[in-house]
Amino acid sequence: MNILGIETSCDETSVAVLHNESILSNITYTQDVHAEYGGIVPEIASRAHLQKIEPLCRAALDNAQVSLGDIGLVSVTDSPGLAGALLVGMSFAMGLHAQYGTPITGVNHLEGHIFSAFLEHPGLTYPFLALVVSGGHTAIYRVTGFNAYECLGQTLDDAAGEAFDKVGKVLGFAYPAGRAIEKEALCCAGDHDIVFPVAAASRTGCDFSFSGLKTAVRYFIEERGEEYVRMHRPDICDAFQKAVVCSLVHALRNAARLSGCKRIVLVGGVACNGALRAEVADEFGRDVFYPRPALCTDNAAMIARAGLEKAQHDLLSFPRLDVTRRL
Ligand code: KG4
Ligand code: ZN
Repeated sequence: MNILGIETSCDETSVAVLHNESILSNITYTQDVHAEYGGIVPEIASRAHLQKIEPLCRAALDNAQVSLGDIGLVSVTDSPGLAGALLVGMSFAMGLHAQYGTPITGVNHLEGHIFSAFLEHPGLTYPFLALVVSGGHTAIYRVTGFNAYECLGQTLDDAAGEAFDKVGKVLGFAYPAGRAIEKEALCCAGDHDIVFPVAAASRTGCDFSFSGLKTAVRYFIEERGEEYVRMHRPDICDAFQKAVVCSLVHALRNAARLSGCKRIVLVGGVACNGALRAEVADEFGRDVFYPRPALCTDNAAMIARAGLEKAQHDLLSFPRLDVTRRL
């Protein structure tokens, strides 16, 4: 079966075509217009999706050499995300459903992220712990099968990617800043003594809190002044990144201990981070799985892959907008 995936929940417009588990095409347009505002402007995001969705769909079908009549399932993100942004993808998907009579399903964006791991690791087996770590979400799920997700911990305030983006803003990086901070940290000589605090967020030790860290970096920068920051930017980025990675690995360690599950899946934009990947591999050895960066950040191939799973389990659900729906 050919599956058309559509993702418009935030600031990426993405359309993909899968033939069963294989990616035939996966085209993502990132809206860099938000960089000048230092964060996502929902109304601008919706308008940009509206302009891009149709040409991207054509390009994805052309690249895959598949026609709309040969699509067996339309799989579209219907939750969680920005209301106006989600509505663009959903309306487009429903239009195709109405015109071609193609079966359709809504997909939870977080479920999409989890299933991105199967795109490159088809042999991945349950159970595993999925760290979903992005600009909008940071949570650990124990995944025992399709539709069987137990949230073991989550952020109590900011998402990890959001912390990267906000700290990046005070350090003068454009939005989104995660990749730039990682690059800057790589320039660090390794001999600084900057340490930022990592919050102990809960009794189980599986939750996260990044807003205190973000404030600590802001105060540190304000105290030292511009000249110091200019000279020591790589050290500050390294110390901040270490604090985030330390917090994520600490929670994963606790979740693994509590659940007895040692197979780890890293997904979401922050899962692109090399320092995080290295630390998790160091802690858990070879049982660590993550997709390539283009499949970690928001993309439609993961939505199509989750849709396939829903079809295989006879659990297709007509798209229903829900901006906050959890897994
Ligand atoms: O999954 P994603 O594309 O969108 C959401 O669902 O939020 O994740 C985007 C987030 C941004 O906050 C971005 O700064 C962060 O992922 N990110 C990174 C890296 N690449 C992207 N954070 C740290 N290191 C990276 N290399
Ligand atoms: Zn995402």
